Amino acid sequence: MEIKNKVAVITGGASGIGAACAIQLAKKGAKIVVADLNEEGLNNTINEIKNAGGEAIAVKANVTLEEEVKALMDKAIDAFGAINIVIPSAGIFKDSFMVSPDRETGKVNRFMSTDQFMAVINVNLLGSFLTIREASIKMIDNNWEGVIVPISSINKEGQLGQLNYSSTKTAISLWPKILVGEFHAKKVKNIRVVGIAPGYVETPILLGMKPEVLDSIVKDVSVGRLIKAEEIVNAIAFSIENDAMTGTTIEVSGGVIAKGLVK
Ligand SMILES: NC(=O)c1ccc[n+]([C@@H]2O[C@H](COP(=O)([O-])OP(=O)(O)OC[C@H]3O[C@@H](n4cnc5c(N)ncnc54)[C@H](O)[C@@H]3O)[C@@H](O)[C@H]2O)c1
Repeated sequence: MEIKNKVAVITGGASGIGAACAIQLAKKGAKIVVADLNEEGLNNTINEIKNAGGEAIAVKANVTLEEEVKALMDKAIDAFGAINIVIPSAGIFKDSFMVSPDRETGKVNRFMSTDQFMAVINVNLLGSFLTIREASIKMIDNNWEGVIVPISSINKEGQLGQLNYSSTKTAISLWPKILVGEFHAKKVKNIRVVGIAPGYVETPILLGMKPEVLDSIVKDVSVGRLIKAEEIVNAIAFSIENDAMTGTTIEVSGGVIAKGLVK
């Protein structure tokens, strides 16, 4: 599918991968609808797009709230008349071991709270579900050609301290297979679904980590550095443009090594 003149709805568009998607797809001629909780970040994204001559609107929305996600799709259609590209990039992590026994007493003195677990499930999993479902309804009802790009992570393979986060990313990595199967069963032919599983990307979500943690992460990346958000967007743009790609989640990780093999 050609990107030029298509309408892209991107959540998490105030920052990181979502903002990079918005800015780069706008350069390729897409009309951009960015959603996020962070209004200042949203304004930065759309100002950058508009200053470069692109078209974009910002919608403040919480992806965990059904009514706000529905309103987001309505606003996208009001502004640009269609929805063709859907990138649910809003995501959070709240890392903790499930249980941490005290070194001296051996008794558990810290654990992942229910709030920590559910916050990540709600934003990453429920938020992606609502965004994809509401966009799909509009795309199918109007027979708009399109591509949905669920955002997984290389930590779909499992990561200590990320019982909550990895659970969401493993689940999301399966969505392209399930959704494309469901679309096929229901004779929906206008939507492809290509997931992206980024490795460690140089964005605020990651740069918030302690420097020593970041150093230990990079040590195990084959290309020897963090991935750039633009490299993720390149893979997304390629997936959109290549009509043979659907029903799969592709890894863009720089080769994250675990036990000698790429994870
Ligand atoms: N950065 C990485 O290394 C990396 C690696 C693998 C996967 N990912 C995934 O990529 C996606 C984007 O990550 P990023 O690195 O750009 O993070 P980021 O923190 O830079 O951006 C995430 C955005 O989501 C927004 N957001 C959070 N909760 C929201 C909510 N309830 N409603 C609307 N917006 C909300 C935040 O305000 C923020 O602007 C996430 O799903 C993340 O899990 C990131």
